[in-house]
Parts: sequence; C-alpha cells; structure tokens
Amino acid sequence: MSASLAAVAYIGATILFILSLGGLANPETARRGNFYGIVGMTLAVLATVFGPRVTLAGVPWIIGAMLVGGSIGLYAARKVQMTQMPELVALMHSLVGLAACLVGFASYVDTSIEFAGAEKSIHEIEIYIGILIGAITFSGSVIAFGKLSGKIGGKPLLLPARHWLNLVGLLVVIWFGYAFLQAPDIGAGMMPLLVMTVVAVLFGIHMVMAIGGADMPVVVSMLNSYSGWAAAATGFMLSNDLLIVVGALVGSSGAILSYIMCRAMNRNFISVIAGGFGTGEGGAPATGAQPAGEVTPISAIETAELLGTAKSVIIIPGYGMAVAQAQHTVYEITKFLREKGVNVRFGIHPVAGRMPGHMNVLLAEAKVPYDIVLEMDEINDDFPDTDVVMVIGANDIVNPGAEDDPSSPIAGMPVLQAWKAKISIVMKRSMASGYAGVDNPLFYKENNRMLFGDAKKMLDEVFSALKG
Ligand code: TAP
Repeated sequence: MSASLAAVAYIGATILFILSLGGLANPETARRGNFYGIVGMTLAVLATVFGPRVTLAGVPWIIGAMLVGGSIGLYAARKVQMTQMPELVALMHSLVGLAACLVGFASYVDTSIEFAGAEKSIHEIEIYIGILIGAITFSGSVIAFGKLSGKIGGKPLLLPARHWLNLVGLLVVIWFGYAFLQAPDIGAGMMPLLVMTVVAVLFGIHMVMAIGGADMPVVVSMLNSYSGWAAAATGFMLSNDLLIVVGALVGSSGAILSYIMCRAMNRNFISVIAGGFGTGEGGAPATGAQPAGEVTPISAIETAELLGTAKSVIIIPGYGMAVAQAQHTVYEITKFLREKGVNVRFGIHPVAGRMPGHMNVLLAEAKVPYDIVLEMDEINDDFPDTDVVMVIGANDIVNPGAEDDPSSPIAGMPVLQAWKAKISIVMKRSMASGYAGVDNPLFYKENNRMLFGDAKKMLDEVFSALKG
C-alpha cells in the first residue's frame, strides 16, 4: 500500500473513531457507535500492516502475533462475567502501558533512523515521557486489577509521608530525565531510563495502593485516560498520526468520564488521586453509624399486590440485578404492568453497578425501551408522586445517609430518593452492606419493605403472583 493510500485510510479511521465516540454517548446509538469503531479499527490495522512502514518479511510475524493476541482476547471476552468487566478493563489498560514501555525502549535502541540536534532531543523526550506514562499505567492497572478481583485487599495503603515520597519520586524522574538527555550514547542513556522506569512502576503501585475500594471506579476510568495518553506517546515515538489522535481521544474521554464519575460520587478528583478514601471492602455486614432498628419484610405475593394496584412505579436497578441476571424478568414485569396501564419507569444512578453504563447495558439487553429509562437528575423530583419504588439489588445509590449524615463515608454523593415515594420495596438477599460498606437507613424507614432473596428468584415469584 502506498504512503498516500495509508494516509487516506488513517484519516478515514480517525473520522470513524470520532463518530464511534459520538455514538457511544447515547444507548440508542451505542450499537452504531460500536460498529463505527470496529470498522475504523479494521481499517487502521490493515493500513498499518500493509502500509509502507512494514516490510513484507514482517507481515507473517504480525499476523502470528495477532492470531495469538486475538485468540486470548476472544477467550477472555467470552468467559468474563459481566460483574468482572472492570477488572478485565483494568488488565487491558495494563497491556497498553506495557506496550508503551516496550515501544519506548525499542525506539531508543533502534538505530535505523538517525536523529540529530533538536530532532534527537525531541525524540528522546517523547521516549522518556512515553515510558514514564506507560510504566505508571502498567503497574497502576495491575494493582487496580488485583484490588477489583479481590486478590489485593481494598483498604487503602497509607504510608507515612506518602506525599513526600511522591514528591521525591517526581524530583528523581526530572533529575534522571536531564541525565538521559545529556547522555552521549545509548549505553550511557540506558541507566537513567531504567532508573526512571523503576521509579514510575513504584509510583503507579503506590498511587493505586493508596486508593480505597469505594474510589476504584474513578481510578479505573483515570487509568483508562492514562492508557490513552500512553498510546498517544507511543504514536509520537513511532511518528504515527493515527495513534496520536486515537490516544488523545481515549485520554480525553477517559478524563471527562473520571470527572463525571467524581461528580456523581461527590468526590474531588484531586482527593481521589491523593488517596485514602473508601476503606470499605463491600459485602460486609452493615455496620453504619446508626443501625436504626427494625425492618419490615414483605413477601413476593404482597409485592405483586402492591404493584398491581399502583398507578406509578419506579424501578431502581443496582449491582444485585447484574449478579442475579434478573434484567429479563424485570422487563417481563415492566411489560405486564405497562399493558395494565401502570406508568413504569427506571431510575438510573450514574455509578449503579460496577462500571459506567452497567445498568443501561443490561436493560438494553433485555429490550427495555429507552424512553422509560431515566437518569437520576431526570427522575429524582418524581418520587413523591410515585406509588411504589422497587429497588432491585441496589444499596449505596439509594442511601439517604449520603444526604443527611455528614459523617457517612458517602456523604454528599447524590442519590436516588427512593424513600420519598409512598412505598419502597428493597430486594436483596440479606442485610449486608453495598460496595461502600455502609449501613443504609432506607431499610428501616416506616414506608420501606424488604423482600429478601435472590433478585431473579424473587422477581420470578412476583411475576407469577402478578399473572395469577
Ligand atoms: P451496591 O451498593 O454494591 O449494592 C448492591 C446490593 O446488591 C448489595 O447490598 C447486595 O446485598 C445486593 N445483591 C447482591 N447480589 C444479589 C442478588 N443475587 N440478588 C439480590 N440482591 C443482590 O450497588 P449499587 O447500589 O448499584 O451501587 C454501586 C456501588 O458500587 C457504589 O458504591 C459505586 O460507587 C460502586 N462502584 C461503581 C462502579 C461504577 S462505575 N458503576 C464501579 C465500581 C464500584 P445482599 O448481599 O444482601 O444481597
């Protein structure tokens, strides 16, 4: 393929990636967005492999590597449970970081292109920064994977003088960067480069180890952003414009997502990075500030009666709906009630579940119409006029303590105000806490009922009772 044809293909791929991001911004167009992304990536890979910079002898190696990588990816994607997605994503980010490091070292020792003067300095700065971002992304993502998969405890590791340690790390990186640029040859430059890589790896480990379980979602999207910048840095090292553009797209969209998530959890981005929040491991028995007395259990039959006589219902799905894979039964019930004239809508919290858009994906899979799936801000004012709220496997996102208990670890996080409805029914298996590890005062409210059991099983019973 000629250089100009490859350039045209790259421009086409860039446009497709931008259209893909645009499509992914809305559940209705997400499928189309994914399609654009797939076509863009296929075009990009073909233009690279058959482009002017790859010799014919290299092609079998690339195809072999793609077959191995593609098979591993296919196997992982088929095997992964929806609930394990964040850890898989973290693991994949680590590979982008590792690739940036390897490309950095390879570019440094590659003598096939001669650089001189300012060009040489710019190339070396690209290498140094690329390896720096790559190493931080790599080690940080490996630790994030360990934390999310439970292989490493969720408690933040708070070393004494940790901010000073980070500052010393930064100074070492700057100092060795200067030494690297001054090095007369590759042999002399290798030492500062290696020292910086070790410092960056340690920094990545330290940064994510200091972050508590409850802040991990933000960290995953932040590492997503880092992996984009690492890819952009790789693009600079390889003088590949497409990689620069795609890296910048991933980097900036990851940063915007981190910001949106911080806002949804009422967390300050800087304090997330500084670490120390969210000591909860999730799933522990509820041990909140004020265990507020008795709960009122309800049966599936009574739940069906309440739903059958309601005029308006809001369903709030959470992580437990994903675990129980209850979305299809949720849709059956929704369809049944809507056919009876009940106004059924869904209230979606931005951080419900374990990844951005988790609930939207599940509801779309079950074919719930998009127009009844509303964001938190769109539906929060409607609770006082709602007869029944069904909270399905959600906990933290409906915790009133976030609004009225300043000592709560999730204080200030905007939540869905389920307790304002005439009656709320919480479906979960026990009194265990949610991800943030805090007790939920909603359970003890006078107008709240607890339907204990696996969400799928209980909803099946509710549906049978409704039909009966
Ligand atoms: P959680 O607060 O984690 O609560 C989920 C509840 O589901 C648990 O209390 C659990 O109680 C119940 N559950 C689990 N399996 C169930 C099953 N089979 N049937 C019925 N119930 C079941 O979830 P949420 O309300 O969706 O809030 C999300 C939390 O995760 C937030 O704290 C958020 O910050 C965090 N987080 C979010 C993300 C993103 S990006 N969405 C990523 C990581 C973490 P039982 O054990 O008693 O059943």
